[in-house]
Order: sequence, then structure tokens, then C-alpha cells
Amino acid sequence: MSVQIDHLLNETRRFAPTADFANQAIGTSKLYANAADDRLEFWADQARDLLHWHKPFTKVLDWTNPPFAKWFEDGHLNVAWNCLDRHVLAGHGDRVALYFEGEPGDSRAITYAELTAEVKRAANVLTKLGVQAGDRVAIYLPMIPEAVISMLAVARIGAVHSVIFGGFSAESLRSRIDDANAVLVITADGGYRKGRVTPLKPAVDMALTGVPTTVRNVLVVKRTGNEVEWTDRDLWWHDELASVDAEHEAEGFPAENPLFILYTSGTTGKPKGILHTSGGYLTQVAFTHKNVFDLHPETDVYWCTADVGWITGHSYVTYGPLANGATQVLFEGTPDTPHPGRWWEIVEKYKVSILYTAPTAIRTFMKLGRQIPQGFDLSSLRLLGSVGEPINPEAWMWYREVIGGNVAPVVDTWWQTETGAIMISALPGVTVTKPGAAQVPIPGVAIDVLDEAGVHVGHGNGGLLVVTEPWPSMLRGIWGDPERFIETYWEKFGEENPRYFAGDGARLDEDGDIWLLGRVDDVMNVSGHRLSTAEIESSLVSHPMTAEAAVVGAHDETTGQAVVAFVIIKYSHLEESSHEDIQAVLRAHVTQQIGAIARPRQIFIVNELPKTRSGKIIRRLLQDVAEGREIGDTTTLADTSVMQVIKSTLR
Ligand code: WTA
Repeated sequence: MSVQIDHLLNETRRFAPTADFANQAIGTSKLYANAADDRLEFWADQARDLLHWHKPFTKVLDWTNPPFAKWFEDGHLNVAWNCLDRHVLAGHGDRVALYFEGEPGDSRAITYAELTAEVKRAANVLTKLGVQAGDRVAIYLPMIPEAVISMLAVARIGAVHSVIFGGFSAESLRSRIDDANAVLVITADGGYRKGRVTPLKPAVDMALTGVPTTVRNVLVVKRTGNEVEWTDRDLWWHDELASVDAEHEAEGFPAENPLFILYTSGTTGKPKGILHTSGGYLTQVAFTHKNVFDLHPETDVYWCTADVGWITGHSYVTYGPLANGATQVLFEGTPDTPHPGRWWEIVEKYKVSILYTAPTAIRTFMKLGRQIPQGFDLSSLRLLGSVGEPINPEAWMWYREVIGGNVAPVVDTWWQTETGAIMISALPGVTVTKPGAAQVPIPGVAIDVLDEAGVHVGHGNGGLLVVTEPWPSMLRGIWGDPERFIETYWEKFGEENPRYFAGDGARLDEDGDIWLLGRVDDVMNVSGHRLSTAEIESSLVSHPMTAEAAVVGAHDETTGQAVVAFVIIKYSHLEESSHEDIQAVLRAHVTQQIGAIARPRQIFIVNELPKTRSGKIIRRLLQDVAEGREIGDTTTLADTSVMQVIKSTLR
């Protein structure tokens, strides 16, 4: 990390907003002043201005039982109504909500009126299938309009969705369905990926077969038309939607009604079900989407490239943009199929003006060369956003110059599944931006950088990133595990004055601006996706060949980090199989258990692992090996020769 810090310290380029941009900007410095004046009143104003309340709230925040927060508690709202009907009633029914672009090139423009109509029918289907307010519905879909429609239909009836990324395996799906006791799964026959059909339904069948389950029905969207096996619990989406009434009245639900659970990796083997509720969440996603992305809903075409299976897709594909009445692109495919200019072709086709993506994608395009984006007309782009991992200054500059034509401001947005919405980011019409820095908390959010003892580090120093005051879109808990919620996030700096520990390292520069430095725990960040070292280790160890395993996130030029595993194989298997075979079997095993995103880039077969006297694996030393560095301090090892042994086996 020290190399990175030195590098960042030398970054002196600055970009002030142009007068043209600043003059038309939605987010102004007045927001900071108002929030500083009265933080809670500021958020109450946002909640009233940005959302429609079926019953207005009178209380803003209840923090009498920290860390369990309640925002706008006595207010009632319907999240889906806020994203749909109210825009239609305001005369924007003909505005395009989604420009859907399928991987094979099929496309479909869906207006707010059409989207509202579809969601109403889908909501009626859910009710017909016995789904009630508070019930959990699992959604396992490709990036197609039905993913957004399903989420909104669940929200509309006050139920709770749990979206599971389509790249997760049947096992991951099963454990998430079980943990939340879902009553319904919404899936598709398949999706298109890299020019091929990827079936989805078989994973759902596998997840539900042969085990007791709370799932009563599986609703199947026909996307790819591939053959699917059929059971008594299965229903076709199109048949069901055609069979119900077109009208559906959205009732108001309490602001703290759960909206969704989203599973994310933590430091232990078991993914955490992060719980978000309605009123505070929608307030902060709408506020940040509007002000950080400078959204002018009448003229902008917005595109966030994240999948709805991740928090970025929840907050900045489904809820933020639709709450704000935006027109957006929804893309099913990948950046490089059928050609490496696919994204830029889409920007040109829809005249995308705001693009929100991840550093890993930017670095991949950098590698391919600027001639590819330069082959398309990108002049519509006027604002660029980044999320998911620290963006290195080179990638930031390339993004600005090559994609943004040297004029579009770049905003680097720091936040997490747990925070629900953007927490740290420049405001594009206000902030003088610095390549590589997320910079400043958004108005109304309180951030600090502390040392291990909980003391503010001061300008020019590094430490741990902390949120010091509750915020509207904060997680309300871990599904079914309040103890873990408290331990994981709120106890590090004492129970007296609970502060939220994010798990990220950060540095304050001389101006007090924040530079993110990556995770300080055993969570890896691979292509902007969070993966737990412990989860992959337990998957490796669950294979009968493996005696022991340790996983580290090693630096990778494109993906930020890559999964590198060190395994000890039982002697009998070593005699029987080649290293290549063992490595292939273990890679396939992890893919099958967790999903392709967790598949190790490299697996080293070793006969020892570096441990402390108390038996804890010292991952830092393995990271040195994985990154090809000199081995660091080995004095805490129980057996100081072990690193030599490991290095010699690898040669
Ligand atoms: C990392 C994604 C640096 C960070 C929205 C965080 C970032 C984790 C940034 C959350 C950024 C996200 N700069 N690091 N702009 N954005 N991260 O839950 O380590 O998938 O803790 O949420 O991603 O990942 P998650």
C-alpha cells in the first residue's frame, strides 16, 4: 500500500468545473451550507422535495437505540409509486424510462406509462400467488426489463426482494433463498452472455430440489427460448401477467418497511444479508442520483453499467434513476461482445450523456487502446462517474480525456452495499476535482478518518474510514443476525458513541480531501466485486483433496485484485494426480460452489502455510509471494523457515 500512497501524494493535477457546467448544475454549494446548518432538517427537506408521501412524516430520525436507526418513521410511502405512477400523473408518461439493449442487439424502448402498466400487472400476479407485505421474493434474472419490473412489483406490494446475481451458482442461490425464507423465485429460462445462451432456470431447479424449502412457486420469464424442465411449482411470467387485472392501486407503507435484502461478502465464510428499508433509502439514492450525476431528467440519457444483482444496480439502475424520472439505458451484455467497441456504440446510439461505471472496465479499455472509443461519437457525454474500487489517477485521466473529451467532469463515488447510497463524492458543479480521490462527503453525511485508537488522524495522514453520524440510506441490520450487525460495524470504536466502521483504509490530504486506499480486512475487491477470502477458503477446504487453504487478493492490473489460493493437498491425491489436474478440479469446484467470479486466478500447491504461534495464517506474507515481492517481516511466524520452503516449492 505504501507505493500507492507515495504515488497518490504526488498527484497535483486539479480540474475546476467549467463556468458552463457550474451555471447549469443542479447540485450547488448551498447544499453544503444547508446541511451544515441543520443536518436532520436538510434530510427532511430532501425527503419532502424528492418523494411523494402517502402520509407525511413528523419525525426525522430516531437514534435512541443505536445502532438501530429509524428515519421518517411515522411517514408512509410507496416506493414503486414514487418511481412510476407519479411521473405518469405529472404528465411524463410518454418519457422513455428504459432503453433496453439486449446482448444479441434486440432493443426496446419502454416509457414510464408502459413500465407502470407492467409493474401493476406484476404486482397483481404476486398477490395472486399469495405473496404478502413482508414476504421475501428471490429474483435471479439477467439484465432485462423484467428484473427492474420484478423489483418494483415486489416493492409495490410492500414485500421484500432479494436479488441474486445471475453469475452465482445453484449453491449460492440455495443458501440465500434459505437464509431469507423466500416464498417465490423469479427467474428466466436464460440470458445472453458473450454471444451464447446462459441458462438460469436449471440453477433454480437445483437449488430447490431435494431439500425442504419455503418456496411455493417459480415465475419464469421467457428470454432465450431454450428448453427448460418444468415442475408443478413453475409458472410462465407472460401467462401470469396476461391473466390478471391491469389496474393496481399502490398503498402507502411505513417508511421503515423493509425494501430489500442484498447478500454481500464479509470477513467470515457466510455472506451477510444486508437489510435496507424504504423512506430513508429512497431519499438518499434519489438525492445523490440527482446531485452527484447532475441529472436533468428532461434531457439527459443516463447509463449505469452495473448489474441489478449488485447494490449499484439497485440504487443507480432501479431506484435512484426511476425515482427521479430519468431516461436510462439498460444493457444485457458485456463490453466486448460482439466487438470491443460495443459500449461506445451504445453511447453513440442513445446519445448517453451520463455514464457510471467501474475502474476495472476503464482499465480494460485503456489496455485495448484509445482507437476503439475514438471510432465512435462520444460527444453526448457530459458527466462520468466511477464506483466500486479505488480509481488510480492514470485511469481517471484516461476516462476524462478519452471518454469525456477532456471536458466531462469525473466523479469518483465511494459507498458500499451497507451504505445504500453514495457517501463520498465530488459535486460536479462545485468541487475542484483531483484524479484518484473521492474527496468529500456528500452534504448531510459525516465522515472521519481515525487511527486504531479512534483518534482523528489529521490532514496528511492515513487511517480507517468511519461514518460518524447515522445517514438515511444506512443498512438497518443483517437479516436474522442483529449481533453480527453490531459486532461487524459498530463496536470497533467503543459502544458509548457508536460509529460505523466501513472496513476501508483512507488518507486525508493537506486540504482534508479523502483518498480511498482499499480494504483493511479480509475482503477482496475483484473487478469491483466483493469477495471474502474466508468464503473461498471454506469452499476449497470442502473439497476432499484439500487439507488446508489460504486465499489472498493479489494486485492485478485490470481487475484491481485477483484471487490467489495456496492449498495443501492430501498426500494420497498428490501421488495420484498432477498439479495441473488438481488445480483444474479446485477451480471448477469453487465455480460450482460460489460462482465464476470467485474462481481463483492462480492456485499454488504448497506443503506448508505461514502461521503465527497461535495458528493464524499470515496472509500478508502470502500476498508478498502472490505479488512477486520480497517476503516481508517473518518474525511472528511459528516456524520462520516456512516461507523459504514455500518459495522453493514454487520455483
Ligand atoms: C470499495 C459497491 C474506493 C470499498 C458500491 C468498499 C471503493 C467496497 C469505491 C464496497 C471508490 C467502492 N473508491 N473504493 N469509489 N467504491 N469501493 O458493497 O472497498 O460492492 O468497501 O459496494 O468497494 O463494495 P460494494
